[in-house]
Amino acid sequence: MLTADDKKHIVQLWEKVAGHQEEFGNEALQRMFITYPQTKTYFPHFDLHPGSEQIRGHGKKVAAALGNAVKSLDNLSQALSELSNLHAYNLRVDPANFKLLAQCFQVVLAAHLGKDYSPEMHAAFDKFLSAVAAVLAEKYR
Ligand code: HEM
Repeated sequence: MLTADDKKHIVQLWEKVAGHQEEFGNEALQRMFITYPQTKTYFPHFDLHPGSEQIRGHGKKVAAALGNAVKSLDNLSQALSELSNLHAYNLRVDPANFKLLAQCFQVVLAAHLGKDYSPEMHAAFDKFLSAVAAVLAEKYR
């Protein structure tokens, strides 16, 4: 459950991300594929080498989806409904993987934002990514 303060922090944080969405998305995915190579099994059709344009393009989509979710903090289930269908029914991504991507995205934020990624921001953004993951996984039941 996101509190009013969490929501405020998430929106503030995303203002700092907004100009770098593609870059941060790309770095998070690159990091996920290297740190947790089991995640590569979902992307057999992708070029997964460092510097891959396909990873960059996908990172842009993932970050844009997160940006949209930030605009719908009161309504995440509805905002992410189609993505939830896609990941559950079509892609069949094991929900455990959402935590791995969340972890990688947070390392990217910490690396780029430094002090601006304060413990309060970290706490709020972690709750946000957990909420997104919960929605993306809810159709598995
Ligand atoms: C596709 C978002 C986590 C695997 C997508 C797309 C978006 C997205 C926006 C493109 C949908 C479209 O083209 O219509 C997200 C978000 C995530 C997340 C917001 C969590 C924060 C994951 C994880 C995996 C994964 C953890 C697997 C490790 C895929 C795959 C595709 C996809 C395989 C299809 C790629 C393609 O063929 O173009 N995701 N995703 N996603 N996602 Fe996710």
